[in-house]
Amino acid sequence: MANYEIALIESIIHTSELIFCVLSGVRSGANGTYTKVDVKPVLIKTELQYQVTFYEGEKVKHQNFAPDAVIDFLASHVGIYFKQAHLFTKSNDYQILFSKKGKGTVLKKPPSRFVVDLNHNRVKQYLIPEGTPCDFMCELGVMDATGKVFKKKYDKFRQLNKYLEFVDDSLEVLGDDITIVDFGCGKAYLTFALYYYLVKVMNKTVQIVGLDLKEDVIDFCNMTARKLNYEGLHFQLGDIKHYNRDEKVDMVVSLHACDTATDEALGKAVHWGAKVIYAVPCCQHELFNQLKNEEMAPLLEHGIVKDKLATIVTDTLRAKALEAVGYRVQMLEFIDMTHTPKNILIRAIKEPATPTQLNHAYDRFVAFKAAWSVKPRIESVLMPFFRKDREKSE
Ligand SMILES: C[S@@+](CC[C@H](N)C(=O)[O-])C[C@H]1O[C@@H](n2cnc3c(N)ncnc32)[C@H](O)[C@@H]1O
Repeated sequence: MANYEIALIESIIHTSELIFCVLSGVRSGANGTYTKVDVKPVLIKTELQYQVTFYEGEKVKHQNFAPDAVIDFLASHVGIYFKQAHLFTKSNDYQILFSKKGKGTVLKKPPSRFVVDLNHNRVKQYLIPEGTPCDFMCELGVMDATGKVFKKKYDKFRQLNKYLEFVDDSLEVLGDDITIVDFGCGKAYLTFALYYYLVKVMNKTVQIVGLDLKEDVIDFCNMTARKLNYEGLHFQLGDIKHYNRDEKVDMVVSLHACDTATDEALGKAVHWGAKVIYAVPCCQHELFNQLKNEEMAPLLEHGIVKDKLATIVTDTLRAKALEAVGYRVQMLEFIDMTHTPKNILIRAIKEPATPTQLNHAYDRFVAFKAAWSVKPRIESVLMPFFRKDREKSE
């Protein structure tokens, strides 16, 4: 591409003028399989990025680029791979056309596209956007073949994207070659979303095992993974408690696995030394009949309040126990579809901790447990991993 066209693209990107761009018309002899590419600005949290969508037959792939990287991408594609580019900006539309001999012509017209105000988020920028067909979402009946999300699946669409935003936050910790176990995967919307985002958008190498107790669900998920050609995504029948593997596991996911199944999943994650854990517990019944605390007796008088309290105490104990074995823990709000409108997501990231920090965290766990007179499953599951040489704090 000539200097003039490159300078035009640089100035459009550097001034954040771009609204949308389409590259089309593959040059004969071009080395690649894409037939069209489009580019649009997206706000990933507060950072301006450019989402590039590659079209290859029925398949669509997304990749996010920083501003300088998208300039490089456009400079290496416009006029080299594609014969034309349409750039819709806030002030003008530009059409860049290349002749067979590679000579570029730029046509300038008044602007024809609306400005999407990214800063005020008038249009929510999802990591998997609506309007672009996404293979697993089409297959699982979340969107149609044109990329339009079905009305009754909009909550699911939002939940999938919210989950991916949480995952995106810990990508740096995970590196480029990631092994994941998803316990209690169910029909696996979230597992497919995780695979799609990591492999197709973020270009990671990923192995994911989804585990569940239900045979029909496992068969359905394996069939769907094969149909989508999702290499590295497998589903297995089994109980979390009895699942074992010798290879490394970088990330453990357990979303809405009932009652103490979450504790079993956390125990496996800690045993493998997983770098990242995502758990959304549900149906926390274990402590309901154990809770005792004289000073807090009013909180235990009414079943409905006691039930909520049992949930909070259970998840707080899980968080404290994870801290005592070397994880930094956050409790975040997650949208749940089936049980309650909202749930807690426990995100735990393995971090180096000194013996003093681990001892202190363990003491806090023990004190909190004693305050409620409970024996939670998480304690026995993580017992082998608590520090053995801790000093007695009494
Ligand atoms: C409510 S579904 C959640 C599915 C999916 N993770 C999600 O969040 O959409 C819970 C799943 O956990 C599975 N499950 C519960 N206990 C389990 C256990 N001990 N081992 C394996 N799977 C279990 C159930 O069979 C069910 O499919």
